[in-house]
Amino acid sequence: MYVDRVLSGMRPTGSLHLGHYHGVLKNWVRLQHEFECLFFVADWHALTTHYDSPGDIEDSVWQMVIDWLAAGVDPTKSTLFIQSKVIEHAELHLLLSMMTPLGWLERVPTYKDQQEKLTEKDLSTYGFLGYPLLQSADILIYRANQVPVGEDQVPHIEFAREIARRFNHLYGKEPGYEEKAEAAVKHLGGKKAKLYRDLRTRYQQSGDEAALDSARALLGETQNLSLGDRERLYGYLEGGGKMILTEPQALLTEASKMPGLDGQKMSKSYGNAIALREEPDMVVKKIRTMPTDPARVRRTDPGSPDRCPVWQFHQVYSSPDVRDWVHQGCISAGIGCIECKQPVIDGVLKELAPIQARAQALTEDLDTVKNIIADGCDKARDLARETMRDVREAMGLNFG
Ligand code: TRP
Ligand code: SF4
Repeated sequence: MYVDRVLSGMRPTGSLHLGHYHGVLKNWVRLQHEFECLFFVADWHALTTHYDSPGDIEDSVWQMVIDWLAAGVDPTKSTLFIQSKVIEHAELHLLLSMMTPLGWLERVPTYKDQQEKLTEKDLSTYGFLGYPLLQSADILIYRANQVPVGEDQVPHIEFAREIARRFNHLYGKEPGYEEKAEAAVKHLGGKKAKLYRDLRTRYQQSGDEAALDSARALLGETQNLSLGDRERLYGYLEGGGKMILTEPQALLTEASKMPGLDGQKMSKSYGNAIALREEPDMVVKKIRTMPTDPARVRRTDPGSPDRCPVWQFHQVYSSPDVRDWVHQGCISAGIGCIECKQPVIDGVLKELAPIQARAQALTEDLDTVKNIIADGCDKARDLARETMRDVREAMGLNFG
């Protein structure tokens, strides 16, 4: 149970750009080799803000999945699925909504921020307020403990932790809990039982996190435990009842060095993006016309790379040698901006070529893409159902 399980989602925005690639997808590709990974399309989340234009969702979903796969997300390593095809997310969302204080939702910083930003939309809806709760359900239903996200999403992960804690507190206490937990400790057998007790005491008396980790590891490697006893013993470590839902953690990805063409954050809506499937001619054109140090008006004016977005692209695409050449050439007016941009153009084209080839092949074979997703949805549903059984039982709903 304490094996790392990674989960992350993206709202369907259609085809992706280099900002997504360097900021998110490369990280997913790396994680899938190290952990059990689940990645999904958060199409219901798209509806919280785009409830008036649902017609765009379907195409956006497939285009985005094509780009995930083209960028190297590997369906034999990661489970890829669509939120709305695992309706158990909705059931958990509903059940959690019963015990979620309104104030908690209203205080999530993105709530007011987004409402103020997207003034052209009426976001005073029930669904929009519940955005972080739906996200919590997405995470908790897989008992994912690591959630790779950007800085802006940290409050949502924190919110999910609080929801998990509240749930466990409210519903994790079964009658006769202490006795059952003590019986489960005995079940571990002499040596392990003593070690478990020692570690538990160390954690509870002095907050020794290392002891908590060791105790969890001990349970992780103990084979002959029933599922119920296992959960009880995990919960007992921290003093509470059964740990039904796992508290997730944000796995902060290092901020992407990849800015947009104008040096701001890359975003389709700012018009400063290079799409993963951008035509090579357009790539060349966009980089050739991207702004440089505004102080460098004439070819003979020396420039400062620090004021130039092209320099930031060199951080991503160029070797130290090329970067030295740029720096020297820029401050001494030894090179022109067009010359300076050429290695960036070459770097972007080289990076995009294999991605575009894969995307092209997948576009011509949408059935394969749909099968990959159908398999992923089946796997995700199995995991979600397991959690829902425990959740229903804890909430007194496993009758009938
Ligand atoms: N809110 C996330 C975003 O805008 C998308 C998302 C939905 C998500 N559910 C999630 C991310 C669960 C991580 C885990 O980027
Ligand atoms: Fe920017 Fe390069 Fe021109 Fe300097 S030489 S201003 S780094 S594009």
